[in-house]
Amino acid sequence: MHLVLEGIDGSGKSTLANNLKESLETKIPVLMYREPSDLTEAGKTLRKLLHEEKKVTPQLQKQMLDLFLKDRLENTKHYIHPFLQKNPNGVIIQDRSWISTAAYQAENPKQALVIAESYLRRKDLYSIDLCFYLRISPDVAMERIHEGKEQKQVFETIKELDRIFENYETIFRKLRFPFRVIRIDAGLPADSIKEVALSILQDME
Ligand code: ADP
Ligand code: TYD
Repeated sequence: MHLVLEGIDGSGKSTLANNLKESLETKIPVLMYREPSDLTEAGKTLRKLLHEEKKVTPQLQKQMLDLFLKDRLENTKHYIHPFLQKNPNGVIIQDRSWISTAAYQAENPKQALVIAESYLRRKDLYSIDLCFYLRISPDVAMERIHEGKEQKQVFETIKELDRIFENYETIFRKLRFPFRVIRIDAGLPADSIKEVALSILQDME
């Protein structure tokens, strides 16, 4: 089972990923994976850019588009496929996927659909079984980011989160995915979100 978590910064993906891991790892093999990864040169460069760059420019977005593809192609081959082959009953809990690239690297919803469609056509990438879209308003997400102690990243401004939220909304409304997509109200308490997610995972077994 390959599960991916999507949503804007501050929507609660890492919290849900950790909660699911805790509940599942006593029963089945679990692989935690996030994008950008810290496993490849491309992933490491991305993490640096996300913390260092001060402004989102078209050049930065183009550079990121290429690096994200490199990072995930390399990890598909060396990390994800080997895990699933070795653990057919295992689960990958993945924090972000190529759906984030469509939402973050696109200037507007139309471009977001073009990027997503190009990823859907790829044959050399991991395939997803289930996606949870943690849906939250950019205002609430910004409040959570400010409360958290983490250092802010390049996309963590209200202007950027508004753009990214609109891109996500269009992607999940308009695109036909070859896997299940479940929208979850990310404003609920973290425990309730975990229970909803676990019951959906159980239904799919
Ligand atoms: P993401 O990985 O999507 O950026 P995090 O899981 O890091 O989000 O959560 C961002 C902040 O919001 C953290 O401080 C976290 O403790 C808090 N948080 C996460 N989920 C919830 C929730 N359901 N309700 C309230 N606060 C939450
Ligand atoms: P991360 O630490 O995952 O952010 P958060 O936990 O706050 O959601 O940092 C990843 C950042 O990289 C986040 O701002 C989203 C961005 N990103 C992209 O711009 N494109 C992508 O394809 C991915 C996977 C992430």
